[in-house]
Amino acid sequence: MRLNRKNELDPNNIPEHIAIIMDGNGRWAQKRGLSRSMGHREGSKTLRKIVEACYKLGVKYLTVYAFSTENWSRPKEEVDELMKLLLEYLRNAEKELKGKNIRIKVIGEKKRLPEEILKEIDRVQKNTEHISGLDFIIALNYGGRQEIVDAVSRVVNDVKSGKITEINEEAISERLYTSGIPDPDLLIRTSGEMRISNFLIWQLSYTEFYFCDVLWPDFTEKHLKEAIICYQGRQRRFGGVKC
Ligand code: IPE
Ligand code: IPE
Ligand code: MG
Repeated sequence: MRLNRKNELDPNNIPEHIAIIMDGNGRWAQKRGLSRSMGHREGSKTLRKIVEACYKLGVKYLTVYAFSTENWSRPKEEVDELMKLLLEYLRNAEKELKGKNIRIKVIGEKKRLPEEILKEIDRVQKNTEHISGLDFIIALNYGGRQEIVDAVSRVVNDVKSGKITEINEEAISERLYTSGIPDPDLLIRTSGEMRISNFLIWQLSYTEFYFCDVLWPDFTEKHLKEAIICYQGRQRRFGGVKC
């Protein structure tokens, strides 16, 4: 692994936007003879700690993959438990984040989400919308392909109505759920899997990828810093040439 020169974190080069695929809750639980739901519960504790760590480090945007459009195919008890944990998190969000400048935004399809979750999403987004500091973005019932389909259909409508005349990258980007949010600089995926599983497929075009074997419930601030140090050792070229 190529690290930065000093192998220590450079506080002046913190990625502006970190995206995380929080994977491995099920395996963490299975290894301990526990139910997969226990893994998710433990994973939600990790999430709380990592949000805090990103805030302290001065990260501006943190996007986490909490539930994919494909995750509905899991057993009903597991889906129910995940929804329960998300509801709990959203209900207590302001209390937990008290004193910290953290704004919450939820991205994904509203369709299929339980009414009580939709209510909490609305509430927490409204209550935190005035805050600037860390933008904490939760991808919930999120699918990258679906997001692009939605954006393209909005583009078509806007062309038809004469609102826009040209179809370009900007026209699509502005109609994604992430409109106004810069693309991620660093993507972290835990648990050893090396794929993006339909996460932010448009936005990750020039993102630096970091995969680690640690299962999400075991992921700590130390692992986060290791990922950032690795990122700081990368040379980003965006198709250009650098010597
Ligand atoms: C990630 O952990 C959490 C969600 C998908 C919500 P998994 O549940 O996918 O854990 P593994 O990959 O089965 O270990
Ligand atoms: C991706 O993990 C989704 C989330 C972390 C929410 P999965 O565990 O669902 O992805 P696959 O099935 O291994 O690709
Ligand atoms: Mg998984």
